[in-house]
Amino acid sequence: MRKTLIKTGVLCGAVLLSLNAAAEQKFEGLADTPPMGWNSWNTFDCDVDETMIREMADAMVETGMRDAGYEYINIDDCWHGERDEEGNIQVSEEHFPSGMKALADYVHSKGLKLGIYSDAGYTTCAGRPGSRGYEYQDARTYAEWGIDYLKYDWCDTENINPVGAYTTMRDALHKAGRPIYYSICEWGDNQPWEWAQDIGHSWRATGDIYPCWDCAYNWGSWSSLGVLKILDIRKDLRLRQYAGPGHWNDYDMMEVGNGMTEAEDRSHFSLWAMLNSPLITGNDLRSMSDTTRKILTNKEIIALNQDPRGVEAMRYIDAGDLNVFLKPLANDELALLFLNRGDDVLKYTHDWQFNIVKDDQVGLEINFNHKRFTWKDLWKGGKGNTDKPLKLEIPPHDVVVLRLTPAQ
Ligand code: GLA
Repeated sequence: MRKTLIKTGVLCGAVLLSLNAAAEQKFEGLADTPPMGWNSWNTFDCDVDETMIREMADAMVETGMRDAGYEYINIDDCWHGERDEEGNIQVSEEHFPSGMKALADYVHSKGLKLGIYSDAGYTTCAGRPGSRGYEYQDARTYAEWGIDYLKYDWCDTENINPVGAYTTMRDALHKAGRPIYYSICEWGDNQPWEWAQDIGHSWRATGDIYPCWDCAYNWGSWSSLGVLKILDIRKDLRLRQYAGPGHWNDYDMMEVGNGMTEAEDRSHFSLWAMLNSPLITGNDLRSMSDTTRKILTNKEIIALNQDPRGVEAMRYIDAGDLNVFLKPLANDELALLFLNRGDDVLKYTHDWQFNIVKDDQVGLEINFNHKRFTWKDLWKGGKGNTDKPLKLEIPPHDVVVLRLTPAQ
């Protein structure tokens, strides 16, 4: 009898253990397409407060950004105060006197969602309290506040195992019970594309972005990267194979409207859309120019990013200043992006008949001699078909983006 009891006890324990192990997971259904929103860091650095965040939510609505699909208002580093005597994280009373719950209520009342930032180490990158050792408590607090998105950074994490640390916060969020988008931000240092699919909804693939075309900004021990540098840094890894609905490569928050030229902003936005990167803007929405607004709200470019097939673009032609990216879309459509990386106007004739499309990842092969497409230029509005060669003159640092639809 005793033996049986013990056995049953052991068995129950084992069942419980395995139930427990299976109980926590990431929230599904939050990232069928890449998230769209705004984040404070690129423009405001540590200078965040509730008035500015409320105004940004207002601007998101008034500028038509919400209607174009942008949804998250994300507060990056530096919203924190100290922990109270029970270890609960507090907001900075000086900068968020009404508290985070009130701010979340306000953002929700605008039909938007609120995001927040923490770090897997003891301190955040700007030296605020991190979540190390407080993961479950912090996740509960975020859920109580009504948070919808967590960016989880990787500063001050010496000797911490990244898979374990990111899994712990995933489990903590799940346990807290509120569906929260989980954005992994460890800069691609530990190849998150290989292990993070079931942990987070996206993972940063590179170091921080910098608002320039092809520069790197040296901060001493690390550098921020311009648009082309981000585009090229993981080129050989074919990262696209790891991304898909629910789990995306994150090429960092955008710098559109933050000082690059109109052509560069257009290219940056189009590339991030083609790469299925989260479309998180990083400019001041309250004062953006009409040019910036038009770029960020180009619904046909956004539709490439939000395409339900969820296939990241491949670099289809790589020929010096000319790069052509190709993105298989739902319903046998395709997007093609012709990028002029160089400083001179690029003249190029694309002969469809000689450029067979082959994408082994999705088993796609198109011979334009046998299959006709019509195309639409998504920035200029022109239309054509694949019967005759496409003659392009692309200004420096600019793009031409076409959407191809099978001809009837
Ligand atoms: C890191 C991240 C940035 C930003 C800062 C905040 O550098 O990669 O995106 O969140 O920390 O301190």
